[in-house]
Amino acid sequence: MSVAMSRPKKVTTHVLGEMKMKGEKIAMLTSYDYSLAKIVDGAGIDVILVGDSASNVMAGWETTLPITLDQMIYHGASVVRAVNRALVVVDMPFGSYQGNSKEALTSAIRIMKETAADAVKLEGGEEVTESITRILSAGIPVMGHLGLTPQSIHKFGTYTVRAKQEDEARKLVEDAKKLEEAGCFAIVLEKIPATLAGEVAKAINIPVIGIGAGHEVDGQVLVLHDMLGITHEFSPRFLRRYHNLFSEITGAVENYVQDVKSVDFPNEREQY
Ligand code: KIV
Repeated sequence: MSVAMSRPKKVTTHVLGEMKMKGEKIAMLTSYDYSLAKIVDGAGIDVILVGDSASNVMAGWETTLPITLDQMIYHGASVVRAVNRALVVVDMPFGSYQGNSKEALTSAIRIMKETAADAVKLEGGEEVTESITRILSAGIPVMGHLGLTPQSIHKFGTYTVRAKQEDEARKLVEDAKKLEEAGCFAIVLEKIPATLAGEVAKAINIPVIGIGAGHEVDGQVLVLHDMLGITHEFSPRFLRRYHNLFSEITGAVENYVQDVKSVDFPNEREQY
């Protein structure tokens, strides 16, 4: 079999659009490093998001604000080296695109050049459309992000459900339409009422990927470390845990410590 035949078909932004048209759900997860991205890609995920949630789960910061462009590029390049099939999207970090579309373009070009990712993601509605247009002018696909936008946490003060009030819900629908008009290939909707998310998914032709936004959207995304149960302190209603790696890893490390202390490890067969 030739290399081309054995390689799985790469997911593109075009493929995601087709999936929406066919009603096939899109599965997306975050990854930040080579080893886990390799497993996630091999397991058949459609999209890998190198999220700025790396700021929380990899670096231990309380918010996503401190992570830098250089750090996002390090994570992005590590993930891209592992991936054969999934579309890889890298988050543009706080301060790399807001309020200055030229800087937004420069940041997006650095991400694409230095990571070889497939697309970038940024947060916000109408206020970021100028940056989106400029980034797209360089041929870089852009994913939008509305609803709970963690980079604006200091403006809102809480991580509660967004767009519960009528005026905020109307604004969110309008923003989604503006992101589509600006040329985004997909949008993430975070922590908003399920019926509103379904309304957005029907109102626009690009895929809508939800996190805490119900099932009437075109796909789902979760933070890998949350769904694997590594980050056990964080338990929002929308999170389904597929494993409890916190206790598995704790048990494994405890066993190792015990084996070292009791000189059970290494044994005869584990030495030269
Ligand atoms: O950074 C991230 O992990 C995200 C997801 C929550 C969508 O933006």
